[in-house]
Amino acid sequence: MRLKLLNLFCGWVVVFPALVTALSVSDVLEIIESIVDCATCHAALIPLQGLALLGDDAFSDVLIGVCDVSGLEDADVCSGLMTRLGPIIAHDLRSIDALDQTAGRLCDALFGFCASKTPNSFTVPLPSPVAPISPPSTPTTRGTPFQVVHISDVHIDRDYTVGSEANCTKPICCRNFADEAGDPITDPAQPFGNQRCDSPAVLSNSMLEALNSFNAKFVMSTGDVVAHDIWLTTQDEVTSNLNDFNSDILSKIKSQMFPGFGNHDVTPVNAFPRNTTTTANVQWVFDLQSTDWEPMIGSAASQQVDHISGSYAAPVPDTNLIILSINTQYWYRLNFWLYDSDTFQPDPNGVLAFMVEQLQAAETAGKKVWIIGHIPPGVSDTTEDQSNYYDQVIQRYKDTIAGQFFGHTHLDQFEIAYSDYSHQTAANAVGVGFICPALTPTSGNPAFKVYDVDPDTYGLMNIRVISANLTDPTFQENPTWSLYYDAREVYGSLVGLPATSELTPAFWHNLTEVFAANETAFQLYNTFLSRGGNVAPCNDTDNCRSNTICDLRALRAQNNCDVDEGLASLTRRTEEGVRKATTSQCEGVEIREIFAEIQRKSKE
Ligand SMILES: *[C@@H]1O[C@H](CO)[C@@H](O)[C@H](O)[C@H]1NC(C)=O
Ligand SMILES: *[C@@H]1O[C@H](CO)[C@@H](O)[C@H](O)[C@H]1NC(C)=O
Ligand SMILES: *[C@@H]1O[C@H](CO)[C@@H](O)[C@H](O)[C@H]1NC(C)=O
Ligand SMILES: *[C@@H]1O[C@H](CO)[C@@H](O)[C@H](O)[C@H]1NC(C)=O
Ligand SMILES: *[C@@H]1O[C@H](CO)[C@@H](O)[C@H](O)[C@H]1NC(C)=O
Ligand SMILES: *[C@@H]1O[C@H](CO)[C@@H](O)[C@H](O)[C@H]1NC(C)=O
Repeated sequence: MRLKLLNLFCGWVVVFPALVTALSVSDVLEIIESIVDCATCHAALIPLQGLALLGDDAFSDVLIGVCDVSGLEDADVCSGLMTRLGPIIAHDLRSIDALDQTAGRLCDALFGFCASKTPNSFTVPLPSPVAPISPPSTPTTRGTPFQVVHISDVHIDRDYTVGSEANCTKPICCRNFADEAGDPITDPAQPFGNQRCDSPAVLSNSMLEALNSFNAKFVMSTGDVVAHDIWLTTQDEVTSNLNDFNSDILSKIKSQMFPGFGNHDVTPVNAFPRNTTTTANVQWVFDLQSTDWEPMIGSAASQQVDHISGSYAAPVPDTNLIILSINTQYWYRLNFWLYDSDTFQPDPNGVLAFMVEQLQAAETAGKKVWIIGHIPPGVSDTTEDQSNYYDQVIQRYKDTIAGQFFGHTHLDQFEIAYSDYSHQTAANAVGVGFICPALTPTSGNPAFKVYDVDPDTYGLMNIRVISANLTDPTFQENPTWSLYYDAREVYGSLVGLPATSELTPAFWHNLTEVFAANETAFQLYNTFLSRGGNVAPCNDTDNCRSNTICDLRALRAQNNCDVDEGLASLTRRTEEGVRKATTSQCEGVEIREIFAEIQRKSKE
């Protein structure tokens, strides 16, 4: 019956693309249950468009009802989340053709269908080199390396309350939630953090003080300051959270800081509208960070933050190095603002054009560049189009780019770029994206990275991961930050790295060869991902090991081996291991999971 109705709408849409349709919660449940592949997803968007035409409130109210029926989240979470994200999705549905490509992308973001590994072909305009570029030569003698600290995903919960319930039913716990008032506390929140909760401020301060002992030339932070209370965030809360962390940085860190935007550093979560959207903008957050970051990055770069949607380029004093901090959220699959137009927009808000301009200036001036951003370009969270275009940029400027650094997944990972992805060899490896583990204890032990950097090439000589052990009895009194592993020591010996060599892209490629050949070595990497806490098993069962290695060889999203198998593949957040949870750990909760739960329940 339902499918017939959908077909009918399908026929009608050609004549009346906009057909106001009042739908009840149970109508929408049936529609969600009817989605079994890409075609049925497109068809389902047609009646949902009709609902969106009734207005944002009507649309959000029905989504709240659907979320309630899923039983996946508490009523306050359903209400807060759908009130925030519903209007964006309704706006999308009103703005696009349900049968067009954007609708397919929306299907992927909402329902896990119509995922594409085939980017739209587009050639990024790239200036030719003025003179032939000779690849950087390997120095015969090396200067003493300097240190750089990388932190990410601090997710500080300013409402963390010691003694509140740490074992709650919400995306994060350790707060006094109104609907839990009076309930007996089963697991009281301890002072320095809990696996189900975001970082208390004391944990963040402990890390900021600990990193001073490395005398870093500078510190980088690749975004996500705000907690996972995504059903509660307001502009006021995000504003004060960002202000507070910025003043913590200035008062506690002795080195210069180069910060960047994450998908949680705005409200609603992930919601960075493109400049082609006329009904919304988040200039307030660019104004805010532009002002707060000026003492860290200088006035020219802070002006860019304000005018280039959060991206900037700033020189590192007394070096030949430039930090290019990019706002990757315009390439984020779960930024629902990306689906409000059928017009092909290869470079939303000109982020790629800004990169090219800055990289060209650096090349001309003979300088080196480190790119820092939040979402790694190779993960399936990055839209395959923009990942491909990003790759074109880094291929062109591979001799100028000396490092690429990201966060977002909460895991200690790396991703390799190749000049030819169909021949993934050491000789073809041209770049590596280094992914920083999170401070927030929700995905393993809190950690940060220390890089030893060659003072002439700005290549990495070593990476040390420093972590605090959440389950150590002393953690709740005063976390001890200690060396978790030393990459040169552990990995260098497996690959046969000469003492004076940098950790080059070829080195990392060879390490993936070791992981493929040596199960013990691979298990080390798998344990390191979450710094030894909450380790998710990964071996040859379900091709987990080969898929993980495939992902290590993909700084370009179309080459990763993460397949989107539709709603059925998405299971409850709490049942997921760290690996599958990379997206949802970062999100707190994904709307897709709620829809997946509706489908799962209908099959019971
Ligand atoms: C958390 O709560 C659930 C259900 O309320 C219970 O089954 C579980 O044992 C609790 N865990 C801890 C660590 O208290
Ligand atoms: C959006 O930003 C890009 C890059 O800065 C710019 O070229 C374009 O004109 C802007 N579009 C609108 C509608 O403001
Ligand atoms: C953390 O501490 C616990 C308790 O002392 C210990 O069992 C565990 O092995 C430690 N984890 C790491 C990664 O050192
Ligand atoms: C990588 O492995 C290849 C093939 O074994 C070898 O020729 C090359 O020297 C290695 N490179 C590095 C950096 O380890
Ligand atoms: C495999 O890796 C383990 C652990 O890293 C190492 O001890 C061992 O020597 C490696 N085996 C071979 C054959 O290289
Ligand atoms: C292999 O991984 C699976 C999960 O994919 C896990 O259930 C199993 O215990 C693992 N086996 C070993 C020997 O670690």
